[in-house]
Order: sequence, then C-alpha cells, then structure tokens
Amino acid sequence: MRPGRLSSWRFLAALALVVTLVGAVDRSKFRRCDQAAFCAGQRAPATAEGYSLVAATSSPTTSPLTTYFFSLTSAHKKPLYASLSFLKAGSVRVRVSEVAFEHDFDGFNEHNDITKPRWQPHDVLVDKEHAPFQHIVSTPLTTIAAGDLAFQSIGGGSEVVVVLRGAEFAVEVFVDGVLSVSANTLGKMHYDHRHERAATDAAQEAEKKDIHNGKEIADYGEDGLAIYTDGSRQQKGADEADAAASADVWEESFGGHKDVKRFGSTAVGLDVTFHGSSRYLYGIPEHATDFVLKETISADGKPVTDPYRLYNLDVFEYELNEPMALYGHIPMVMAASPSNTVGAFWFNPTETFVDVTKAPAATTTHWMSESGWIDLFVLPGPTPAAVFSQFTALTGKAQLPPMFALGYHQSRWNYKNEPDVTRTNEGFDTHVVPYDVLWLDIEHTDGKRYFTWDKHAFPTPLQMQAALAHVGRKMVTIVDPHIKRDPNYAVHTDAQANEVYIMDENGNEFDGWCWPGSSSYVDYTSPKARRWWATQFRLDKYVGSTLDLFTWNDMNEPSVFNGPEVSMRKNCQSRAGVEHREWHNLYGYYMQRATMEGQLVRQLPADAALDPLAPIPISDSMHRPFVLSRSFFAGTQRYGAIWTGDNTASWDHLNYATKMLLSMSVASLTFVGADVGGFFGTPDAELVTRWTQAAAYQPFFRGHAHHDSDRREPWVFGEPHTGRIREAIRRRYVLLPYVYTVFQACATSGLPVMRPLWLHHTADEAAFAVEDAFLLGEDIYVKPITAPGVTTTQVYFPPGSVWYNVHEGYARLTAGSHSVAAPLEYIPTFQRGGSIVAQRWRVRRSSALMRKDPYTLVVALDDSKRATGELYMDDEFTFAHETSGIFSKVRLSFADGRLSSTVVASAFASDVLVERIVIVGLQKAGATVAKELATGGQANVESFYDAATDTLTIRKPGVRAAGTWTLVVQ
Ligand code: NOJ
Repeated sequence: MRPGRLSSWRFLAALALVVTLVGAVDRSKFRRCDQAAFCAGQRAPATAEGYSLVAATSSPTTSPLTTYFFSLTSAHKKPLYASLSFLKAGSVRVRVSEVAFEHDFDGFNEHNDITKPRWQPHDVLVDKEHAPFQHIVSTPLTTIAAGDLAFQSIGGGSEVVVVLRGAEFAVEVFVDGVLSVSANTLGKMHYDHRHERAATDAAQEAEKKDIHNGKEIADYGEDGLAIYTDGSRQQKGADEADAAASADVWEESFGGHKDVKRFGSTAVGLDVTFHGSSRYLYGIPEHATDFVLKETISADGKPVTDPYRLYNLDVFEYELNEPMALYGHIPMVMAASPSNTVGAFWFNPTETFVDVTKAPAATTTHWMSESGWIDLFVLPGPTPAAVFSQFTALTGKAQLPPMFALGYHQSRWNYKNEPDVTRTNEGFDTHVVPYDVLWLDIEHTDGKRYFTWDKHAFPTPLQMQAALAHVGRKMVTIVDPHIKRDPNYAVHTDAQANEVYIMDENGNEFDGWCWPGSSSYVDYTSPKARRWWATQFRLDKYVGSTLDLFTWNDMNEPSVFNGPEVSMRKNCQSRAGVEHREWHNLYGYYMQRATMEGQLVRQLPADAALDPLAPIPISDSMHRPFVLSRSFFAGTQRYGAIWTGDNTASWDHLNYATKMLLSMSVASLTFVGADVGGFFGTPDAELVTRWTQAAAYQPFFRGHAHHDSDRREPWVFGEPHTGRIREAIRRRYVLLPYVYTVFQACATSGLPVMRPLWLHHTADEAAFAVEDAFLLGEDIYVKPITAPGVTTTQVYFPPGSVWYNVHEGYARLTAGSHSVAAPLEYIPTFQRGGSIVAQRWRVRRSSALMRKDPYTLVVALDDSKRATGELYMDDEFTFAHETSGIFSKVRLSFADGRLSSTVVASAFASDVLVERIVIVGLQKAGATVAKELATGGQANVESFYDAATDTLTIRKPGVRAAGTWTLVVQ
C-alpha cells in the first residue's frame, strides 16, 4: 500500500472517530439503575416485602364511603397506612404512607418531622374531589376470599370495581366488568421508612450481626454468604443487589458528589399491571426513544435495557433510543388496546425509574422512586378520550394560547444586536415568509443577568419591540433560574433581601455554577418566592420590556454545571426546609408557573395586593401569557409550551421528534415542539426543508440553532429551497383557524393537539404501532419524511376510514398501506373523509394581520357523503373568552346535500365572511349550489366542479363564518 493511501486511511479513521465522538452523550455523567441504590435494590430484590391487608377496625358498611383507610403489615417491615378513594373525575387513588394520615391530608411542608406524613406538593393536582363509593360483599367478576375487600363506584360513567386482596396485598381494578389494571400483583411494593440516624445506626449494626433479609443468620458458608436458621441460603445475585441497596442507606456517591441521606433510604416502589392482550404502552416522557414503550425486563426476569429514568436533567448532546433521563418527566402511562384504554399516574416528583415487562396477557410497569409517597392514580378509561379527561381533571387542562404563539417562531443563539434583529425581521418580509415571534437567547443580557439588556448590542429594546409589534409580531427573551451572585445586580440583592433562594445543606444560599458563573437559584416551590419572581416581570422592574415581550425559561431542571449529573445536590433545601430530592422533578414546573404568573402580574396595577396563596386575578382585557420551558412535570400544560431541548441536526433526530412529541402528548402535555433543523450542527437545505414541513403540523413551531451552527433562516439556502420552506410555513398559517380550534377543544376536553393515529382508531391493532405519522387534531394526518432523497413513502390508513391527499388533488385513499408521493415540495398530508376544516388562504406577514380575513372551508366527504367540523373564534389574545365567555363557535355539517353552519356560541361579534368552500368527494358533475334565504326561498351561488379532482368550489357564498346558514348542493 502506498504511504499516501495509508495516511488518508488513517485520516478517514480518525475523522470517523471524531464524528462518532462529537454528538455523543457522556454517559458516565448520568446514573444508571445499578448505580442508584434505590433502583438496584428494587430491581432485583432479595425478598418480597410481602404485605397483607389489615382491615380498619370499623369494617366498611354498605353506606357510601368517601375514603377507605386500611393498614398493611409485613413480616419484614414496619406497618404501613393506606387509603383508597374514587375521584369525581373518574380515577381511583391508592395512597400508602409510613404514618397514619387524614382523609383530607394534602401537602405537608414539615418534611423533617418523621412522625408526620412525607412532603407532597399540595398545588399540583387541581381536582381532588372524592366521589362516593360503596363496599360490596360479592361480585360476579371475581372471587372475594376471606380477608379481601371489594368496592364499587356509585353513579354514572363506567362501572369501576376495586378489589383489595388481603393475604397477599394487591389492588385490582375492574372496568366495565373486565380486570384492567392491578397493583402489587407481583409483590414488588417497597417502602423504606424514614429513620433518625442515631437510633438506626445501632439497629443496623444489630441487623448486620444476625439478621439479613428478615431472617436470622445461623452461620456463613465458605462463599461468605449467609446460611439462615431455617436452613435456606443467601442468593448471590439478589444479595449483591440487596447489599447495594442497604449498604449505602446513609450516603451514596456518584461522579465525585456525595449524597448524605438524612433519613436513610426513603425509597418507595410498586408494580402496576395492565391486563389484556395486545396492550401497547405509551407515555412517561421525556425519553429520546420510540413512542411505543419497549420492554426493559423480559418476561423471565432478565434485564433488557436500563429502566426508563425520570429525573429532570440537562443532558448535553442526548442520544436516541436511550431510556436515559432528559429535561422533564411525567410519571404517567397510557395502556391502549383494541378492547379498552386505561392509564396510571404515579404522583411522585422524586428520582424515578420505570421497568416495563411484556407478556401475552398483561404488561407490567415497575415504578421505583427514591423518595416521596406511594400515590397511585388508576385512570380507568375505558377510551383514550376518557383517560385524557381523567388525567387532565387531575393535573389541569392546557391553556388556550394566544394565536401568535401558534405561528412560526424564529430563534437562534443568538441574534446578536438590534441591526441583526432588524435584518432578520425584514428578511421574512423580503422573502414573503410569515412569522410571529423573534427570540433572543442569553447573549442579549448584560452578562447573563436576566431581566437586563446588553446596552451596546440592544440599546433601544422598546423601539425594537415596537418595530415588531407594528406588524403584530412579538418578541421572546430568555430568563433562566440561575441568578448571578453579583452584589451590584438588583435582582440578586433583592432575592437575598426577600429570602427566596434555595439553601444548601449548611443553611447558606446555594451557590452553583451556570452561564453567569457563581449563581443562586430561586426556590420556586415557595409561593412567596413565586410571587417575588412574578413581580420581576412588572414593566417598571424589567426595564425595556413591554406587553409584546414573552418569556423562555431554560436550564430549569435545574442545570448546575458543577453539580451531580449537572444538577443540584439533593441535600439542598427549599425555604420550607424540604430537601431538593423531594421536589427535583417539580422545579421547572414551578418556575414556568411563576413566570406565567409574572406575565399576569405585569398587567395589574403596581399597587395590586398580591397574596402569595391566592390566584392572580384575571380580567377580560388582560393578555394571555406565553412561556416556553425546557423542564416539566405532570400539569405543566397549564403554564405554557415545552420543547425537546438540544436535539441534533440529523435525520434520525427529525424522526425521533415525532415520537417524543407524541409521547409528551399522551401525557397531556399538548403545546410541544422540537427545534426545527436540530440545535447542534449545521443541517443541509433538504433536512431543514423536511423538518420545517413536519413541524408546520406540530403544536409548537420554532426554528432554533446553536451559536456554532450556520445561519438557517428560511431564505439562507436560496431557491428552490426557500420556496419550499416558505410553502411549509405558509401552510401552517393557512391552517391556523383549524389549529386554533383544535387548541381550544384541547383546553376544554383534554384531548391533545398532536395525536397518535390509534387515538381515533382504537379497534385497529395495526394503528397502535404507527409512530412515524401523526394526527393534528382529528382530521389532518401527516407523514413526515425523515430520510434524504425520498420521493415516495408508504402511509398506513385504518380500516373504515377515507382520506384525501391534500397535495395530490385530494386523491382519495382508503384502508391499507399505500405508496404516496413525497417530493421535496411537500410531505404527505391528508384530510379525513367526514371532516370540515376551516382555513385562511390569504397569508400575511403575521397571524395578527390575518385576524379579519375571510375563511375557506374544506369539506371532505366520507363514504356516506357526510362531514362535520367546528370553527372557534375569539379575539385571539385576551382572557375575555375565559372570563366572560366572549367567543363564538359554529358547528358545521354536510349531510343529504345540505351544508349548514349552526351557532353554538355567539358572544364574540364577528362579521368575517366565508369566502370559499371546497367540497371534495362529491362525485357529482354539474352540481349547483343555492343559499337558503332567511326570508324564505333560495339564491344561486357561484360554483365550479372539477371532475379531475372531484372538487366543487363554491365562491363568495355571502355567509358569515360565525353565523347560521345553509347551502343546498344539488
Ligand atoms: C440550552 C438550551 O437548550 C438552548 O436552546 C439554548 O440556546 C442554550 N441553552 C443557551 O441559552
């Protein structure tokens, strides 16, 4: 081989290595299950804790109950106290505590008193109202043995029967006569009681001497393993795990950081089984994994991968197909099957791992948490819509965002200065691309001091925002939770004076390293600190801000560059003295809430009294907030939008964006998106085009990029790319009336905006595996293209459905897998047969400028030549729709040749007209259209039937979008 060739080979090999290394997460920074005592110990327990039920002294009667209290005993552990309740909103709640608790126990902040129940946030669940239920002595569903107890829901909805098994404690939930969910069926319930250190050290010593796994040790074998007095021997593998769990009860180290456990191990765990064949599990975001959750432990008990980890972390250059934790988590799964859909919510914000095991007749999840309560909500469904309704009744419905937030957002780390902002803003107009919001990243501040401006780069922020606002555009600035410890920075000194910082283990203000260097972190778990934070957004405090400025909360896992796993030490404490380990996964949740409240507070009079425990008053004229956060927990949907953090400019990341967003959506996080083009790296024109085309149909639509990546605004690539990207963004604006209507429905029903295909096709098992395509609302079906050079793709359509290919002359498609065109100009998009989708075809510079424009209705008929739809209208930015019901809504329907609009709500006065109606699937050449007149009789309306595409276009029918009218098609 010639030397030259050799060296080029070496060069290529070196390059390959570099390419592999760049973009690879540093796994050693993040704990695996076997490196966390609470997880290792529970994943491979030496002995089941073996609880059995002790019925309450007053045994239940047939008169209605609101809570049933009971206790649990074990040969190996101290007793536990538990309760069962049925919630009005439909879920079944089982709580377990080491301390007896009251019926209405709800959130206790004195965590450090171990005679009291553990800390639990009292303001995360919104509707906890109990429903009456009754004790039953028998049920045809199952045998009730002596010691078992059975209860039944009273009232409407599904019939739910809960059986508490006595001898080997388990909870079985029967929904409409079918065993659907059970807990502790596998006996994995685990509860480590809090101990005071001094007392327990002695007890532990004693245990080491002669007791192990609850058995008395008689001797040790040559292998060093215990031989018990009953003749049994210690199991090797299991005991290693046991040792891992118990040896480090008082402290654990990882990555050079020591975690001292004040009360010893306080771990809890439980297995939850979803019964029935063909179960598909979804949820527990956020993981860069497939949408259908995969098995992590095989049915014969062998680990397949690490469990899914739920611990909010700032993971640099995250990888795909990894159950590693990411920025936010929701401990909720939805278990769908053709026969019913149920769910479970493990209400625990501490570090958690979840194992999944699949067997033919059941799928099991094993929830293992470092601390907190056992607090399980079974969501009995039995339909996906019912599960969404039950879960959002608990955790809250999403807000209806202001319309601008649904437009296109342009971000970059960083738009450098005001001329850069002006150029970028004008670039959109020059290239005729609509957009609504321009974003400024951390460099816009004075040295990463949030709520300030770099005076050289951004000397006139008010004028800058006014220039955007002139055409209805908005601006977003980043505000992170780490506050620079600078004695000359008023936010910092004010935070100190108001005592709102998190404290370290020694009672000092926690000091960690982040963008500004030495920083302290606001304790958003404290209502007082949240109010303090909210007031920072007052226009007189945040100098240079306006009502057209909105907020981006980043780094709120929280990210601490010099902390364990790039986060905060678990021994740090909230102002209420509760350790960070107890509320870690809630930090970003509370921060986003406080910021959202800040955008309300800034609209109140400066002297408004702000009781930290009272909700902030909202009124008709107040503007809706918009806050994007990276970290989240169950219920975050109430406070704003979430994005998937620092993804990479690769085709695989584009592919996984859909999976990740679907997973968030089933956990009721609805306003979600991924950085268009990928954050790290420089995407080529094709990748940006395909990404923009997919994201145009996803709930939150923002282009964002790392400072090292090349510019990628829509015009950067030149033609033909700019034209394609423009078209994709314009398509979003065309669909805004529909998107807004879907968001509004989501705010009332809890159904997410971005939906898996199976959500509306639960009888079709094949739909359960579809995760490369998604529904926007119920009626638009989208297949992103996630590989280069693609021109056609296969798309699956469920039996019994009819679809029209929006980009291919509304070509009609029915059940099966079809090859469809996917040229670079667009991605395959379909409208459901049977739907009416409202649109606006006059696209302008921003959504605000389109507010008064007329609508186009696209009516896509099903096989019986029928269709229905809705159109929701309000002022698109204030709270009047919520506070005074100032909105309008019409129900649209086509049946028997009559297209009609029926007013459902009419408080929002609007004269906006319908300028065009397109009916597809009519199959009627020579059709004529007439409008029914209020005075009686009919008037002809201009129409044109195109036989090639089977579309009837009705022009200027002269009807109001918010009105009642009928058109007759003959
Ligand atoms: C991390 C965020 O994920 C990213 O979007 C942002 O640009 C940088 N922080 C800088 O603020």
